[in-house]
Amino acid sequence: MKTSDLAWWQRTIAYEAYPKSFLDTRGAGTGTIAGITSKLDYLAKLGVGALWITPCYRSPMVDNGYDVQDYYAIDPSFGTMADMDELIARGREHGIRVVMDLVFNHTSEACAWFVESRSSRDNPRSDWYVWRDAKPDGSEPTNWRSIFGGSAWAWCEERQQYYLHTFAPQQPDLNWESPEVRRALYDIANFWADKGVGGFRIDAITYIKKPAVFADGPVDGEDGLSSVHNATANGEGILDFLHEFKAAVCDGRDIFTVGEANGVGADELCRWVGKDGVFDLLFEFSHTHVPMGEAEIWCKPAQWRLTDLKRVLTASQEATATNGWYPAFFENHDQPRSTVNFFRCDGPIDAKAKALGTVLLMQRGTPFLYQGEELGYGNATWTSPEQFDDVQTRGEYEFALTEGFTPEQALAACSRFSRDNARTPMQWDASANAGFTTGTPWLPVHPDYQQMNVAAQEADPNSVLCWYRRLAALRLSRDELLAGSYEELMAESEQVYAYRRQGEDGAAVVLANLSDQPAAYDAALVDGLALLAGTHGTVRPGALRPLEAVVFGTR
Ligand code: NOJ
Repeated sequence: MKTSDLAWWQRTIAYEAYPKSFLDTRGAGTGTIAGITSKLDYLAKLGVGALWITPCYRSPMVDNGYDVQDYYAIDPSFGTMADMDELIARGREHGIRVVMDLVFNHTSEACAWFVESRSSRDNPRSDWYVWRDAKPDGSEPTNWRSIFGGSAWAWCEERQQYYLHTFAPQQPDLNWESPEVRRALYDIANFWADKGVGGFRIDAITYIKKPAVFADGPVDGEDGLSSVHNATANGEGILDFLHEFKAAVCDGRDIFTVGEANGVGADELCRWVGKDGVFDLLFEFSHTHVPMGEAEIWCKPAQWRLTDLKRVLTASQEATATNGWYPAFFENHDQPRSTVNFFRCDGPIDAKAKALGTVLLMQRGTPFLYQGEELGYGNATWTSPEQFDDVQTRGEYEFALTEGFTPEQALAACSRFSRDNARTPMQWDASANAGFTTGTPWLPVHPDYQQMNVAAQEADPNSVLCWYRRLAALRLSRDELLAGSYEELMAESEQVYAYRRQGEDGAAVVLANLSDQPAAYDAALVDGLALLAGTHGTVRPGALRPLEAVVFGTR
């Protein structure tokens, strides 16, 4: 495969912006769309060609926009539809296409569809959501626990029925069995596609197909509930809906789709992406489950080793080697910072960021960077549960207490895994509030911002940002790094993540020591190749210093 065989979205770098925390142009303490537009040059310098922005539709913001009230309107806190049109147009001038987030598993309870659906059992939209009668004793229809904690069912007085919410009670699940619901959703996607966006990230898509029979699941917590995820993720028949979505929205357009697919593993990727699939890319989470543990219970994190992480990353690479394409990511707005998440050793955070960034930016697929990752952020510091804004973190805190953990243990677990770690404001410069806002930031700015910010890193050639820019340019200039194959090397090493990218006319070998001890490798692996980039400047044959990363390639 050569670069000329690839589509535009396979030949670029994608970047996720979390609008609320990116840049505030109004002084209100929350970011704006105009703030993103003003930083397109910054993104272009990182080689970004696709810009995913998390939902900025009108919303009550219970889940920071993932509770959509009106899919055809921009929330006033972010700006106006004219601001969005401007972002899309100016983005194109910079070679950057905007990727919208489609939240199609659920709406906000404030959405007009839900307001109508909940009003009676016989209104025209009465079946647009997942309604069920109570059990004979009046209790919830099943024992499912929502992903944000507590029962996945909420009671509605008007209908004298329960509705299902996979996430927060304010996020009722849509009933995809209704052809009218599906049509309404496809209309929304077409509205945005017609505006010229470059693609869609499709939220929580594995939950849209509910089981034919609703039954209690095995109790898996002290609260007597059973995870809704196990009952409804990736249900039989889901792909029929999504093939319909693809035909109604995507076919014939020069856009790409990336589905968010918790519950789908590497072994199933070929059904979802590639020639018979429904999306171009799929965010699956086998690697983020490595530190968090399969059960995703923050108080019970996994004991993991580097080989566990490498094994799942390689499995995802192999699953998309000849069919489909892989979106490589280590961070997003739902994950703790990768400099904390994927290391079990000590060491300077900038060295960790550069080593991990090397692994990410040299992977086969389209790398997805998350704002702040290119600066090497760590997690924030949390001293009390009240500091968390995130609805999931608050649920996890309560769940941990129910499970018998102490408040200190619950706080420690939330500090480690909270989504708010990724949501603190971008740090642009050393001025007040890191240049993010002239108002009061909605989440605290990290106390390290006076040293850790874009302006400071732009001025320092040894910074994480400059390393990211350099590797991005390297990736985009070399056929083997864009289109070449991936072969893992040193698979048994608990220190080094190494792989080879083989193109038609050239090759590259990437070696990253992800430990805080010196490591050795067989110098024959890089025989005949020249050093293209190294975190430490000079290299020592067959040896890597702690947290050193190098890229060798054909001269
Ligand atoms: C996944 C999104 O990434 C997350 O932020 C959100 O809370 C849930 N889906 C629910 O929409």
